[in-house]
Amino acid sequence: MISIPITDNGVNRSSYQYLPPLDNPAASPNQSLLPLSAQVNDQDHLVVGGSDVVELVQRFGSPLYILDSETLETACRQYRQAFSQHYPGEALVLYASKAWSCLAVCALVAREGLGIDVVSGGELYTALQAGVSPEQIYFHGNNKSAEELRFAVETGCRIVVDNWLELETLAKLLETSDRRVPILLRLTPGIECHTHEYIRTGHLDSKFGFDPDRVESVFAFISKHPVLDCIGIHAHIGSQIFELQPHNDLSDVMVQWFAKAASYGLSLRELDLGGGLGICYTEADDPPSITAWVKTLCQGVIEACRARQLPLPRLLCEPGRSLIGPACVTAYTVGSQKQVPGIRNYVSVDGGMSDNPRPITYQSVYRAIAASKMSAPLSETAAIAGKHCESGDIVINQAQLPPLEAGDVIVIPGTGAYNYSMASNYNRVPRPAAVLVNQGEAQLILQRETYQDLIRQDCLPEFLKQA
Ligand code: LLP
Repeated sequence: MISIPITDNGVNRSSYQYLPPLDNPAASPNQSLLPLSAQVNDQDHLVVGGSDVVELVQRFGSPLYILDSETLETACRQYRQAFSQHYPGEALVLYASKAWSCLAVCALVAREGLGIDVVSGGELYTALQAGVSPEQIYFHGNNKSAEELRFAVETGCRIVVDNWLELETLAKLLETSDRRVPILLRLTPGIECHTHEYIRTGHLDSKFGFDPDRVESVFAFISKHPVLDCIGIHAHIGSQIFELQPHNDLSDVMVQWFAKAASYGLSLRELDLGGGLGICYTEADDPPSITAWVKTLCQGVIEACRARQLPLPRLLCEPGRSLIGPACVTAYTVGSQKQVPGIRNYVSVDGGMSDNPRPITYQSVYRAIAASKMSAPLSETAAIAGKHCESGDIVINQAQLPPLEAGDVIVIPGTGAYNYSMASNYNRVPRPAAVLVNQGEAQLILQRETYQDLIRQDCLPEFLKQA
């Protein structure tokens, strides 16, 4: 690997500036723009997990999700280590699989000792098929169907009950059962945090969870239905959060409910404080480290329990974005370019809103890196346009890039969370493949969809079939 000093005189700035610092192996992955294994080889190409990104695109096609196992494993380990360092009680980290649910990802995080948070029958099925044991799975969601609840009960996973209908449906389902089903209650703690309004969930006006004013009647209902084994409570206040204070406040609010539950004869054992830690999408983002975030949760719970003379609960959290977001880059191949004199230059790529709907949905801002020309000065400003028939399909509004030609490869970092999981087939564009890279090995974890896949679920009524 060559190492070129990064100059910051505005002329020589190149994609090198985004490489993670080599001298800090303890870096928190969520504070790095590129995966921790990112380097540059002597062909001036970006290397992730020991594989040349340009070669990966030649081998697996484009666009391509490239998932670095070192970054994902490091994030899992930092979460677990932070709990063992800062919490004297038992703890469990759940991976919020809504961020990216597929067999390989579930199996990898489970191998790292994490449990899994699922929000649908489909995510539950995926986690089970990946070999995750049911007692390590927590089933969330504000509108689980009776069928999903039945599936959850049959598998033996933990159910995070969100509302009265679910509570009543479960009680009915178990009427004739002699088995107790472990449940947690999702509460809306009334805590505000600064993030995009679509991804804020803990404030009172939220579709999720029980209103705090009604919780006592919920406790009363549960105490009359012994089949419902209420083991704990849960809250999640939002996502892509950079402040620590809201989670400190959350610990205190939630511990108060432990004491109240006891007065209804319920002995809660688990406290799940959700996810939410932010990551770097650009160098302007400045999230706290994984360790600092976990320490805040732990200290908040320890203090709140001490103040009320309560034993420490089993403490859970369920990060998604900060575990898998920084571990992935999406590689695109550059195609057509268009100059609109005095207005804007467009560089089009072979994907866009179908593989990354976040810019069009949340106005999320990303950086682009010229993976095939890492040391070239970033002398151009251009919009990176997706290939979909929609003017708003712009991956980045103002990207700093070197001069590019058709065939060049660019990557967008920070695409591990909520990209594949929210991907669509808009314009009947097949979803990309994904590879897991590690020490020069690249394993396919998601096959690229084919045109046949696109019509697999289509049905053609008899009368429309051509003779
Ligand atoms: N637990 C619950 C109950 C959640 O609703 C979420 C995220 C998480 C955990 C994980 O939060 P994280 O650690 O990833 O922040 N699609 C949006 C994000 C939606 C988040 C939904 N809930 C995005 O692309 O930004």
